[in-house]
Amino acid sequence: MNTSAPIGIFDSGIGGLTVAHAVTRLLPNENIIYFGDTAHLPYGDKSAAAIQAYSIKICNVLLQQKCKVILIACNSASAAAYELVREYVGSKAKVMNVIDPVVQFLDQHYAHKTIGLIGTKQTVNSNIYRKKTDLLGKDITLKSLATPLLAPMIEEGFFNNTISESIITEYLHNATLEGIEALILGCTHYPLIKKQIEAYYKGNVSVLDTSEIVAKSLYDYLASNQLLNSLQAYLRHFYVSDYTQSFETSTKIFFGEQIRLEHYPLWE
Ligand code: DGL
Repeated sequence: MNTSAPIGIFDSGIGGLTVAHAVTRLLPNENIIYFGDTAHLPYGDKSAAAIQAYSIKICNVLLQQKCKVILIACNSASAAAYELVREYVGSKAKVMNVIDPVVQFLDQHYAHKTIGLIGTKQTVNSNIYRKKTDLLGKDITLKSLATPLLAPMIEEGFFNNTISESIITEYLHNATLEGIEALILGCTHYPLIKKQIEAYYKGNVSVLDTSEIVAKSLYDYLASNQLLNSLQAYLRHFYVSDYTQSFETSTKIFFGEQIRLEHYPLWE
């Protein structure tokens, strides 16, 4: 495998840029191709079949660009389409998702603990986190709550203000999450409200920023397979299946710096 081949990262839209940013911070030499399926967002309310079909289309784009790794930077797509995508891609690229690294993290640090999870309806209703943590056999109790208002709220720029505070408080107050010792931010949009969530728990609950855990797991995979790019990165593309000025403006809040989106329609 060519070490300078890009890392392909995809999400339903621009939320996965939080993961892409964590990846570029930890792996500055890596070439990156990001694909945000803005024409079909949100994935969180879609059926598994629809998400699978979109994910395969996106993988074709990333495979054409000879990506060495395809990272599904979306919890909803990781829940609904990871197994299918892995089978489809076969040996052409390594496929990673944003759920397994978090489950491994729980395995190492949270045996015998009660953990909360918030995410989209698709992610929470799939029960994927519970199935995977149960398989660890580490006596981890998982309490999950779908929080569907949070992703659109963040996309509309409502974070770090009183509106987001009252929505976050309402959700976290839910009896389902009582007694948790850590909370998984099971949606790639949520790193943007991590500070507000931490403020709500006043240091009593660890808030797990999954983008950093995922980037570290990618690093470990590349390092242990001699796939790290030793040359300087020369390629950064950020494709979206539907382009609007508002997506372009929002990239800054998710990626932390202004980037240029390129329109790449999926169906033509
Ligand atoms: N980025 C998606 C996730 O991590 C949430 C947004 C959506 O519903 O498309 O689940």
